[in-house]
Amino acid sequence: MTFRNISAKNILVIHGPNLNLLGKREPEIYGKTTLDDINRKLSAISRAAEVKLDTFQSNNEGELINRVQQAMDDETDFIIINPAGLTHTSIALRDALAATGVPFIEIHLSNIYAREVFRHKSYFSDLAIGVISGLGAKGYELALLFALNDR
Ligand code: DQA
Repeated sequence: MTFRNISAKNILVIHGPNLNLLGKREPEIYGKTTLDDINRKLSAISRAAEVKLDTFQSNNEGELINRVQQAMDDETDFIIINPAGLTHTSIALRDALAATGVPFIEIHLSNIYAREVFRHKSYFSDLAIGVISGLGAKGYELALLFALNDR
């Protein structure tokens, strides 16, 4: 894929299953930062940059697919997504992202390549503009700065 200059104005952040438990869930792997902390930080950056940011978390694959499909009609021009466990299983969520044609960055808090072999396979990475894995909550901020073209 060729490098594209992104300057997004309407950004959607999607958090997959179990990420509502961040802060409490295996903190030695995922850190102590909560999902609210992450969303608050991203909202503050977006406000300062005067762009619209929406965040969505679900433990339900169908709801995640519906929210991605909605991006086709609500002028979303960039998606930051941590598909969580669905990274390694969900062709359906991948297909939804492909259908929207909206550029996206795939995020993982942990380095999925330094973990179990079943986490090394992602159904999303080849469609993504880029992948950030292993930088903890900071990965979301870096993805947002990329989307804002603040490099
Ligand atoms: C994760 C990594 C996945 O393998 C795991 O299933 C998750 C979180 C991460 O952010 O490191 O739920 O996507």
